[in-house]
Amino acid sequence: MNILVTGGAGFIGSHLVRKLLAEGEQVTVLDNFSTGSRENLPQDAAVKCVEMDVNDASLAEVFDEGRFDAVVHLAGQTTVHISMESPALDGRENIIGSIHVLEQARRTGVQRVVFASTAASYGDVAEESLPIVESEPLHPMSFYGLSKVTVEHYLRLYQQSFGLDFVILRFANVYGERQGNGGEGGVISIFAKRLAEGRALTIYGDGEQTRDFIYAGDIAAGICAALHTEHVNHAYNLSTQTETSLRELVAILADVSGRDIEPRCLEARPGDIYKSMLANGRARRALGWAPVVSLREGLRRTYAYFCASSETSAK
Ligand SMILES: NC(=O)c1ccc[n+]([C@@H]2O[C@H](COP(=O)([O-])OP(=O)(O)OC[C@H]3O[C@@H](n4cnc5c(N)ncnc54)[C@H](O)[C@@H]3O)[C@@H](O)[C@H]2O)c1
Repeated sequence: MNILVTGGAGFIGSHLVRKLLAEGEQVTVLDNFSTGSRENLPQDAAVKCVEMDVNDASLAEVFDEGRFDAVVHLAGQTTVHISMESPALDGRENIIGSIHVLEQARRTGVQRVVFASTAASYGDVAEESLPIVESEPLHPMSFYGLSKVTVEHYLRLYQQSFGLDFVILRFANVYGERQGNGGEGGVISIFAKRLAEGRALTIYGDGEQTRDFIYAGDIAAGICAALHTEHVNHAYNLSTQTETSLRELVAILADVSGRDIEPRCLEARPGDIYKSMLANGRARRALGWAPVVSLREGLRRTYAYFCASSETSAK
């Protein structure tokens, strides 16, 4: 399959590109390197990389030349607080940018678009409704979440109007090697990086708040399943369907790193969701996918990565 990955030089993209290449797919990455980098991409492999913004008028030429079978659309700004400070910037990157991608996909006969949506699309859901299923009403609490929900609507209308198939994937909190400090799910990259540098950890709130942490390699496998499934034109959660509290997270990190950790506790930040967990039964059934990397193993790999990077930057 001939696949365009927008945002392919970012954190999740870097895991996806490796997996697609390993499966023998033909891959083109399009990225403006705002948060991603060439170093995130495998250096020795045959991956074509185009430095471009999805809002650039030359996007049409990339699609004309590439004649892609499928597009995985990961590019966008991923930080909730940036979306709250600059809704227009968020809308330009995440809504208008996505419309440009969809328009080129439709125009050049792309068969399907796989879109990176988010748990933030659901907003703050009552604890009785956990784990959140895909039919839960979408009430985002940030402009970032609203942009993702808006693009989900565009995908449906593109399908209805022009027959462009889609698969929407709502990721839980993703973590792993090459994750940046900003964006969603960053608590693990922040903790692992600080630990690797011998610095203290800070928890906001009582530490009992939970998240559904999923390893980026499992997300890459879910995207690959979405590229091949017959069950198109649906939304799927990609999650572990497991709640982990920040205190539990710190305990596993202490174990994995062999370090004593006594995190500093500060007052909870307003707007932070307390509990979060997504159901993954629909993705298991329809995509034949399941997460396989345990939190302990994923944390081991992530911590090792940040140790190696802090040694390199210290040289
Ligand atoms: N990391 C998570 O926990 C998480 C959770 C839910 C959804 N997502 C979504 O997954 C996708 C990938 O996220 P990530 O964590 O890898 O973030 P990331 O910031 O590492 O990756 C985004 C990539 O897109 C590129 N990019 C940004 N704006 C662009 C533009 N206008 N044109 C071209 N390229 C652009 C960046 O340079 C970067 O390489 C995003 O759409 C994000 O919203 C991530």
